[in-house]
Amino acid sequence: MYFRTQGPLRWLIAAAVFPLLIGCRSDDAHEEPPKSFEGFSAPAHFPAPVYGFENNPVTEAGFELGKKLFYDKRLSADGTVSCGTCHAQVHGFADHNIPLSFGIEERRGMRNTPGLANLAWTPAFMWDGGINHIEVIPIAPLTDSTEMGHDLAALISFLQTQTEYPKDFETAFGSSEIDTRNLLLALTQFQSCLISAGSKYDQWLTGRTNLTPAENEGREIFESKCASCHSGVLLTDFSYRNNGLDSIFTDEGRMRITLNPEDAGTFRVPSLRNVALTSPYMHDGRFRNLMQVLDHYDSGVKQSATLDPSLSGGIPLEDHEKERLIDFLRTLSDYDFISNHRFSEP
Ligand code: HEC
Ligand code: HEC
Repeated sequence: MYFRTQGPLRWLIAAAVFPLLIGCRSDDAHEEPPKSFEGFSAPAHFPAPVYGFENNPVTEAGFELGKKLFYDKRLSADGTVSCGTCHAQVHGFADHNIPLSFGIEERRGMRNTPGLANLAWTPAFMWDGGINHIEVIPIAPLTDSTEMGHDLAALISFLQTQTEYPKDFETAFGSSEIDTRNLLLALTQFQSCLISAGSKYDQWLTGRTNLTPAENEGREIFESKCASCHSGVLLTDFSYRNNGLDSIFTDEGRMRITLNPEDAGTFRVPSLRNVALTSPYMHDGRFRNLMQVLDHYDSGVKQSATLDPSLSGGIPLEDHEKERLIDFLRTLSDYDFISNHRFSEP
């Protein structure tokens, strides 16, 4: 549950709960298995989330239902593809190292599957920011002919005829009547809880660990050369930029949404959380590894009218700087997030 209590009350509660936690620890032999549900709770070193939860408070039943739906292949037209098919936990919820994912009947879309993390902090979704509300996201993959290819009305009636789902919806939302709204709210409860805030970098940010000298050198290079776009704790400023991949655009990116030629070839700056786990890279997955990404910034930037002005001369990088940058980018991997059974296929 989103914990709104602030100030002294929070400390009072913490003071009351803490001895209990210590009490449990001493009894290791009888330790309960860890619970899957922890609710939504914003990490202390993150800004306030943009998704408000007022109309969709996260509950255990809603979260578990959302998870079940996320991993259920029967939500696709031919029963072969679930959200989790393309969004694999071991890869930070990106796909298994392939440039373009396979949807039903092995159809392929045009964009690389991004990792999923910290969606409650994300103001607009997809490579082009074409979806601006977290709750409506699932409609796109559920109905897209290259993804799950289903018809929403047919999907709802299918779910209604199952023995479990009407009961699950009843427990989560007080009604066994399944409709698009509660389907989306349940999926949103699960996806908004995909919080990645436990990387080595987070531990460094919160003063709990040191970076190695090599990682620290990489961090300094990153802060001076990359953090103008990949900024802050979320590692993105959520702006739309052209980072020089092409001079002629086969995918016009943001312009597909705004129809403004000034946006041609611009894409949302991606977060770099878990980036070492989510290869290949860029909106079309053209780079196989991080070294290729750095070679691009160093010597591959292509000129065009919409190229971000800060990249007109590329980002010159010595070989050893590239290696240090990769050392730093690896500190953004959150191993707890990718192995946490809370988020795993039930
Ligand atoms: C066939 C593969 C595939 C399936 C299945 C799939 N996705 Fe995706 N997902 C993608 C791709 C590709 C994108 C990026 C699309 C774009 O930017 O145009 C994406 C983008 C997203 C995003 C936006 C992330 C961001 O940071 O902007 C979310 C959230 C998401 N998917 C959730 C889901 C959910 C929930 C489901 C199941 C209902 C699902 N996806 C099913 C491939 C898939
Ligand atoms: C001017 C803004 C800007 C700067 C500076 C910048 N980037 Fe990017 N970066 C982007 C944009 C925009 C994309 C997505 C481009 C696309 O896919 O079309 C991107 C994509 C990436 C990706 C791919 C992520 C993924 O999930 O596919 C990596 C890795 C990356 N940048 C690392 C860096 C590093 C390291 C630096 C510094 C050497 C850097 N960037 C500097 C804007 C920038």
